[in-house]
Amino acid sequence: MPTAFITGITGQDGRHLAEFLHGKGYKVYGMMKGQHNPRAEMIREEFPFIEIVPGDLTDLSSLVAALEQTQPDEVYNLGAISFVAMSFNQAELTANVTGLGVLRMLEAVRMVGGATNNPIRFYQASSSEMFGKVREVPQTEMTPFHPRSPYGVAKVFGHHLTVNYRESYGLFACSGILFNHEGPRRGLEFVTRKITNTAARIKLGIEKELVLGNIDAKRDWGFAGDYVKAMWLMLQQREPDDYVIATGETHSVEEFLTLTFDKVGLGDWRAHVRQDPKFFRPAEVDLLIGDPSKAKNQLGWVPEVSFEQLVGMMVEHDLRYESDRLKR
Ligand code: GDD
Repeated sequence: MPTAFITGITGQDGRHLAEFLHGKGYKVYGMMKGQHNPRAEMIREEFPFIEIVPGDLTDLSSLVAALEQTQPDEVYNLGAISFVAMSFNQAELTANVTGLGVLRMLEAVRMVGGATNNPIRFYQASSSEMFGKVREVPQTEMTPFHPRSPYGVAKVFGHHLTVNYRESYGLFACSGILFNHEGPRRGLEFVTRKITNTAARIKLGIEKELVLGNIDAKRDWGFAGDYVKAMWLMLQQREPDDYVIATGETHSVEEFLTLTFDKVGLGDWRAHVRQDPKFFRPAEVDLLIGDPSKAKNQLGWVPEVSFEQLVGMMVEHDLRYESDRLKR
């Protein structure tokens, strides 16, 4: 039975990936930090097949111990401080977890190694935030980076280090440059889920308004369920490499709003939305649009859920989720 070790198991991608790998017959280990982590119960209930392993991206010895204990074939490093806005206020923590965490994970993989005929394969969750103030449109694996947040800077460090460990030590290490990917499991702090969830709450009379920051920003939004397949595909190739994973389409936050309010049946979003400077960022990423040609040609990966389907899926989920909560 192949085995996978996932950091960031409680996040959106960790949960999608665990489900996907379980479906493929993997034994799945999920790393979780802290003492009596309140999310452990949620994971045990939702995914009883995941074996939780203690460990922390800020503690190398815990990572080595976790890999020694689990002896995985594949390591997926999805753990990070992943909220860009928060990284401005907690820049040092972000550098430590999102940046140095990759170094520690790579060191642990190098030290534990795996069987000589079957060395551990490593996936690093890199991000389109690395492109930041974009140098070209659309962005490819060759586009230079210009990060615009402590989060983006930390991800650039993690990406380069992954490439460096591959080149220096021959590790099977891949960096997936994933553009924004969403779905019903997205955290409520990210703009897409904040919009669909608050719109559902307004519709049900629980909330009065939706307060946002910059609605002109454009993102290449795909479905998280599609994107975790690409992570796995990268680790099944003959040679390790880096790939852009994106839809190749871009939409503004305003377009996301229009579609959501339309689908919820609230009419014009302007009647329900207020902008507040506190949600604007010190430096913004204005436009992201990825070119996934390499992933298509080499991995045979294509996104299956369209932008409109994605919004529909999230709206439907949040209407049901919020009305169920009301009944309880
Ligand atoms: N979160 C949030 N909340 N974003 C807002 C809001 C708001 O109230 N109002 C406007 N925005 C704008 C942000 O300024 C940004 O331009 C855009 O909406 C998207 O913000 P997020 O959903 O927070 O995502 P992100 O693009 O910053 O980062 C996400 O995608 C990256 C991939 O490019 C995160 O998932 C990162 O971890 C990931 O790497």
